[in-house]
Amino acid sequence: MHNRKRCNYSSFSLIAALGIVLAAVGAVGQNKDRPWMNPRLSPSERVELVLKELTLDEKLALLHGNGMAHVPNWQMPLTHLANGGAGYVEGVKRLGIPPLIISDAAYGIRDSGANGRYSTALPSVLGAASSWDVESACEYGETIGRELRAQGFDMTLGGGVNLAREPRNGRTFEYAGEDPLLAGTFVGNLMRCEQAQHVIGDLKHYAINDQETGRSFVDAVISKKAMQESDLLAFHIAISIGNPGAVMCSYNRINGDYACENSYTLRDVLKKEWGFKGFVISDWDGAHSTEKASRAGMDQEQPMAGHFGPKLKEAVEAGKVPMSEIDDHARRVLYAEFLAGIVDDPPEKGVVDVEKGLEVAQRMEEKSIVLLKNNEAVLPIAPSRTRSIAVIGGHADVGMISGGGSAQVDPPGGNAIMAPGKGATHWQDHIWFPTSPLKALREKLPSTKIEFDSGADLKAAASLAASSDLAIVFAHQWQAEDVDLPGLSLPDNQDALIEQVAAANPRTIVVLETGTAVTMPWLDKVAGVVEAWYAGSAGHKALANVLVGDTNPSGKLAITFPKSEKDLPHPTIPAVPYHQQGRDAQIPNYTVRYDEGSKVGYKWYETEHKQPLFAFGFGLSYTSYAYSGLSVDSSAKTVRFTVKNTGKRAGTEIAEVYVRLPKGADESFKRLAGWKRVMLAAGESQTVTVSIDERVLQTFDEAKNCWSLASGEYGVFVGGASDNTPLSGGLQIR
Ligand code: BGC
Repeated sequence: MHNRKRCNYSSFSLIAALGIVLAAVGAVGQNKDRPWMNPRLSPSERVELVLKELTLDEKLALLHGNGMAHVPNWQMPLTHLANGGAGYVEGVKRLGIPPLIISDAAYGIRDSGANGRYSTALPSVLGAASSWDVESACEYGETIGRELRAQGFDMTLGGGVNLAREPRNGRTFEYAGEDPLLAGTFVGNLMRCEQAQHVIGDLKHYAINDQETGRSFVDAVISKKAMQESDLLAFHIAISIGNPGAVMCSYNRINGDYACENSYTLRDVLKKEWGFKGFVISDWDGAHSTEKASRAGMDQEQPMAGHFGPKLKEAVEAGKVPMSEIDDHARRVLYAEFLAGIVDDPPEKGVVDVEKGLEVAQRMEEKSIVLLKNNEAVLPIAPSRTRSIAVIGGHADVGMISGGGSAQVDPPGGNAIMAPGKGATHWQDHIWFPTSPLKALREKLPSTKIEFDSGADLKAAASLAASSDLAIVFAHQWQAEDVDLPGLSLPDNQDALIEQVAAANPRTIVVLETGTAVTMPWLDKVAGVVEAWYAGSAGHKALANVLVGDTNPSGKLAITFPKSEKDLPHPTIPAVPYHQQGRDAQIPNYTVRYDEGSKVGYKWYETEHKQPLFAFGFGLSYTSYAYSGLSVDSSAKTVRFTVKNTGKRAGTEIAEVYVRLPKGADESFKRLAGWKRVMLAAGESQTVTVSIDERVLQTFDEAKNCWSLASGEYGVFVGGASDNTPLSGGLQIR
């Protein structure tokens, strides 16, 4: 899966590289009538054995959905078999091939409310990626996989790995930030461990689906070089780590062709160049044709059968779609089934392990929280100096907000800020979990007087703040699929609330519950800022631990926070009337030109000499760290350095390694090349080695359609944030 065509290298045979030997070694004996049921054979061997038994109709049935539960327009005769999920694909019962029972599951399992079940909400993916922790990513995926199976699903639609090229994108919280190595590594590990639970893994939305405005018709225009070095690189890294059974093609067009009929991204890159052997599943109603989509490499239409149902059969019978294409589509679906283990171990419904889910959600959030500002050590809260606290705004007396759309996880008991009985969730509802930070803080600080003000009346809020030793304002920004943010300011007059409270009490801390970056016109006036993201099912407990210092924060931003929208590559997203945003709408020539190319996030700010509010990779701790002694081993492509905890308490530092291409390479920004989480007791030093992933050193040669590694001296920069790299050295490539 590490395939990448190198310039001046002869391309090698995929078959040889993957070592697939179709001899059915060891297959004799058991399963005489069904030799594909022998688990000692490889998934590919098993697929070939079963594929030749299938009739045309059985093959075709693998290539389309059968409707979607709870969506009136998307009902088909077999929709009731979808287990309340997003999709259902018939298996081949007579041969022991199970159906696909598919659920959305970005930060937990969707539609639990409507299905009368419970699911854990993990912190948003962007939040979790701020841990830069592959082991936590694994736990995240494992938790979702386990709960999917307990609820009777065998395929997930999680795995969002689009880059945060446009931070106003309504789905930023579902993705893992702006850097291809960090996002690809985090989501790849998440999916590796999710699929290991025996559910088919999926990565989405392939590709360049980087805004929601006009998502079903927008044409994303971008050079091949730029997409290979940015968005596609994130997918490639995630695929090489996670080896998912499926990749979802997105709604948008890429350079003219819809992503679900784009032969460059699907056939040439994903399948040929990267050797992806799973299947391409369309986004829901993202298929647009029969012959063109089939030829380009879309393998399965969802959730209906408008193009890959009867029309596909007709096209085969008329000789317009060759049998070899049908075989290839079916082979890929079957491959995913054997690969993920759902043939040998179909899901069995059971009781979701709520306690375990909550434990993981809390641990994950504790590593995700990013401390952005902490003047005069206002945090952690010292009970001896703090007799009274004003908790203001954000429904903090009741709970914390979550991200919406198809990612939405339903809170136990329904929306915490709605009247009882109005618990059902809708696509665009703002949903609060019953995770009250006020209650969690009161539990942690039993002898401190902690009072709450809703923030609705600015004067009342300011007066409570003025009479308290400390004020904590909870601010939120809601995000969801299908709608981009109008800007990065906090909505609902919250900036004014923060200004007023900070004017009344300089010891004001702002806790942000946001899906993406926000601007902070009040930053100079507050003492502390804590980014808690969408904090999940145990977010309040994790947050309280950080606020009182039982947990030392260690998260670092996976996305740049700009000073203003004016600093973004695209100051505005050209508007589309909301009623024309839906899947059926089409506005011709609605185009977004990603002229910034691969300069996504911090790469853009560095090239443009724009100083962000908070840089990619930034995050404070209750202790401090010092870096020293960089040495670079050019032949091994490793860097070694020492990190010392120079403060008074234990902590975990995320040490970041960046590279800059040699002078002649016509590229002025740094690229993240690796990192290490280093756990250090107070005063402790550790020397660590970080390997540089060669894929981030290479550049894509569009004319020759291959990758090259320029020779020369690469700059190496090491430190605690993309804009704070005290160590520098050189890496020689000859
Ligand atoms: C979203 C996908 C989701 C699908 C099924 C679409 O609207 O873009 O991410 O998996 O619906 O719910």
